[in-house]
Amino acid sequence: MLDLNNYGITMWNDEKIASFRRTLLAWYDENKRDLPWRRTKNPYHIWVSEIMLQQTQVITVIPYYTRFLEWFPTISDLAKAPEEKILKAWEGLGYYSRVKNMQKAAQQVEEVFSGQFPSHYQDILSLKGIGPYTAGAIASIAFQEPTPAVDGNVMRVLARLFEVDYDIGDPKNIKLFQAIMTRLIDPERPGDFNQAFMDLGTDIESAKNPRPDESPIRFFSGAYLHGTMDKYPIKKPKKKPRPIHLEAFIIQNQKGEYLLEKNTQDKLLGGFWSFPMLEKKVIETQLDLFDTDNSRPVDFKSQKESFLEKYPLKITWSDYTFPLVKHVFSHQKWEVELIEGKALSDQLSSEKVLIWLPEKEFSNYPFATPQKKMWQTYQKIKQEKRAK
Ligand code: ADE
Repeated sequence: MLDLNNYGITMWNDEKIASFRRTLLAWYDENKRDLPWRRTKNPYHIWVSEIMLQQTQVITVIPYYTRFLEWFPTISDLAKAPEEKILKAWEGLGYYSRVKNMQKAAQQVEEVFSGQFPSHYQDILSLKGIGPYTAGAIASIAFQEPTPAVDGNVMRVLARLFEVDYDIGDPKNIKLFQAIMTRLIDPERPGDFNQAFMDLGTDIESAKNPRPDESPIRFFSGAYLHGTMDKYPIKKPKKKPRPIHLEAFIIQNQKGEYLLEKNTQDKLLGGFWSFPMLEKKVIETQLDLFDTDNSRPVDFKSQKESFLEKYPLKITWSDYTFPLVKHVFSHQKWEVELIEGKALSDQLSSEKVLIWLPEKEFSNYPFATPQKKMWQTYQKIKQEKRAK
């Protein structure tokens, strides 16, 4: 077990810990948010909520959570579902590996645990896509195991309580915060204790606009008592997302159907459909003219020719221009130029997963947010042009 003293942290004595638990849980009983996953002890439901809540706010999650459990009422339904349906259920939430892993974990539950969701931390941790945070949350909320559930919000609250001088954004420091929480957690009500931290961390103790004077645990907080709230938590700024310049090709055939491609890669947006896209290339002559430092202006070459090589169609291009479509992922920032064309033939190459799809069928296919934004931008400009 990690020794907190080595990190400059003095743990409270038992009496103070008991008083802290009473104070926090009394506040939680009065102020806890009434959330759908707080009305159940079903580990499957709690698991779904915890995975959705990892990168997404409560208010966004609620309708997705309800619909997900309607579509996949049991673990076995999730294990058996077609990939398109699970992506459709997650459409717009982002970080789609979450739901792909959930399906793999559901299959593990079926095969390894005879369809019964495991009830101990170590077994829960063995499931695909479940790390210490999620395993701790499920074990404590559904099975009353006193296991910590430490995410960024919880680390922020702990960093202020104990004036922790370690970066909460550095994954190697998570163990330190888990050790603190393991000492603090109330063995009688571990699920409520963890969730009280989550509620504090997302509201009164939020990152951007904390209201320290309203915190029920302010008189336990080193940072509050010593006037160092501005210093904690320690967190280095994140790396900026890398800009990526793309062209999306909006191609209709003679029947007015749209050319769509399934992303067969495993990584970003794998399994989703979109207009075919190519990354724009920097115009090479410009590379000779300027230094290679990052501040030089760059121009990009249209990929129409490469498009025709990769998608052997006969196309007449339109000269409409559209506003750039922008979308920011955690690690990439896309700027997409829309290019419109009409195909004179329907013939599709068999190397890629391509279809011609009429607009009325769009709702039956999974589309991620960048594709939805492209479609909205395209439609808006077309409507404006038609109105003129
Ligand atoms: N964020 C993550 N898990 C949560 C939970 N169980 N309740 C509220 N917010 C959360």
